[in-house]
Amino acid sequence: MRILMVCLGNICRSPLADGILKHKIKAEGIKNIEVDSAGTSAYHSGHSPDLRMIQTAKSKGIDISNLVSRQFQTYDFDEFDLIYAMDESNYSDILSMATSTEEEKKVRLLLSEIDGENNAVPDPYYGGEQGFLNVFDLVDKATDAILVKIINKQLL
Ligand code: 4NP
Repeated sequence: MRILMVCLGNICRSPLADGILKHKIKAEGIKNIEVDSAGTSAYHSGHSPDLRMIQTAKSKGIDISNLVSRQFQTYDFDEFDLIYAMDESNYSDILSMATSTEEEKKVRLLLSEIDGENNAVPDPYYGGEQGFLNVFDLVDKATDAILVKIINKQLL
């Protein structure tokens, strides 16, 4: 199974979601799941994650420093089974690129995986440290829920 995490810049939220899920999958010894991330914009293509996000992740034992931003492409619908958007804006931007209901069905809001939550992972880019910690907390909870579904074969 292949899972893609998507935000706007692919330097804060989606690299974190990518890094945390990879970390948890590896810790559980789960094979045959691939995780990647992309941004709906090309603003930061080729760049490393935001230093503030790298530091927040590092303080929680997750290394995302090697990830490189890239823009979401229509072929990602072929490459991935599930595409997680961080907020409604990313969600509608991705959906607008889908060319079939099969492709549309692959797209979910990340927080829809947490019971009772169907909201956004807020963009932390223009805020302070608390915003990055909040992103970590939300993404940590959502990826825990995804991991449980993977283990119980309930994700797709
Ligand atoms: P991300 O955060 O979508 O979580 O990577 C952002 C990064 C950069 C910008 C916006 C959001 N920007 O406008 O450059």
